[in-house]
Amino acid sequence: MREKCCGKAGEQTMSEQRFAFGKNWKRYLTGVGRDEIDAAKRSLSAAIQNIQPGQATFLDIGSGSGLFSRAAYEFGFCRVASFDYDLDSVEATVAMKQMAGATDTRWSVLQGSVLDTGFMQTLGLHDVVYSWGVLHHTGSMWHALDNAARAVKPNGRLFIALYNDQGWISKYWHAIKRTYVSAPGFIRLLMLLVFWIYFGVGLFVADLLRLRNPLKRHTGDARGMKFFTDVIDWVGGYPFEVATPGRVEEYLRGQGFTLTWQRLAGRRHGCNEFVFRRAEAHD
Ligand SMILES: C[S@@+](CC[C@H](N)C(=O)[O-])C[C@H]1O[C@@H](n2cnc3c(N)ncnc32)[C@H](O)[C@@H]1O
Repeated sequence: MREKCCGKAGEQTMSEQRFAFGKNWKRYLTGVGRDEIDAAKRSLSAAIQNIQPGQATFLDIGSGSGLFSRAAYEFGFCRVASFDYDLDSVEATVAMKQMAGATDTRWSVLQGSVLDTGFMQTLGLHDVVYSWGVLHHTGSMWHALDNAARAVKPNGRLFIALYNDQGWISKYWHAIKRTYVSAPGFIRLLMLLVFWIYFGVGLFVADLLRLRNPLKRHTGDARGMKFFTDVIDWVGGYPFEVATPGRVEEYLRGQGFTLTWQRLAGRRHGCNEFVFRRAEAHD
C-alpha cells in the first residue's frame, strides 16, 4: 500500500470552495497527548463492543488528525487503514502514526476520497468502518454514505456522525461556513474572533450552570477535541450538509443495516452519532 500518495481526488468533482481541514488538524496535533488519546479510545468503545480487535480490521474514513486511527491501533486491531482527501490531514495522520511509534505495516495511511468508488473498492471490506464528522463535508453526503456502507463486512459495524438537520439553524450555519471559505483572510480572522468570543462566553456560562468545569473544553472534551481548533472547524467546515436521524436510519435500513447505538444532538447544534450493524450475508 502506498503511504501518502498524491493521486487525483476521485471520480466525483470535489467542490472548489473547501475548508482547509488538514491545516486545522496540524494545529490541533501540536497539543495532543495521552489525555486526548484516552478520550478518543473511550468514545470509540461504543462501536467496538462485541468485537475482538485482534481479529478485526478498522477503516478510518476522513482520518483528520489520525487520533481515532491511533485509538484503533492501540486497541490492537489487526489492520488499521486510514485515509483522507486533504493532504494536510494525511500528513497529520502520518505524524500521529509516527508519534505512536507505529513502524509496523498494521497501520496504513493513504490519500483518497470516499466519493471515489474505484478507490474505495481497492480498500476492501472491514469489520469496523469509522467516519466521524466526514461524510457531510464531502459535497455529496448520500453518495459518500453509500460508499462508506459498502466497505462494511457482513455483521460489521458502521460508526458515523452526521450534522443534525435543524431547519433554519442549519441554513444559517451553511451561510456562515460558505461565507468563511470564500472570504479574504482578514474577514476570516474577524469571523473567528467573533465566534471564539460567542462560543467562549456562551459555553463558559452553560458549563457553570450545569456545574461542569469550563476549562475542560480547552484541555480536551469527551472525544479529545479542543475548543480553539473546534471553533475553527465549526465556522469553516464546508461543504456542509445535514440529515435528520430518521432519514439516516431509514436510508441505511434499506441497505441491510440495523441501528445498534445512537447519541443524538437533540436541540444542540452538532452531530448525531450512530452505530449500525450490517446484516449477516445470509440475513
Ligand atoms: C471534521 S473532520 C473529522 C476528522 C476525524 N474523522 C475526526 O473525527 O476527528 C472531517 C475530515 O474529513 C475529510 N474529508 C472531507 N471530504 C473528504 C472526502 N471526500 N474523502 C475523505 N475525507 C474527506 C477532511 O479533510 C477532514 O479531515
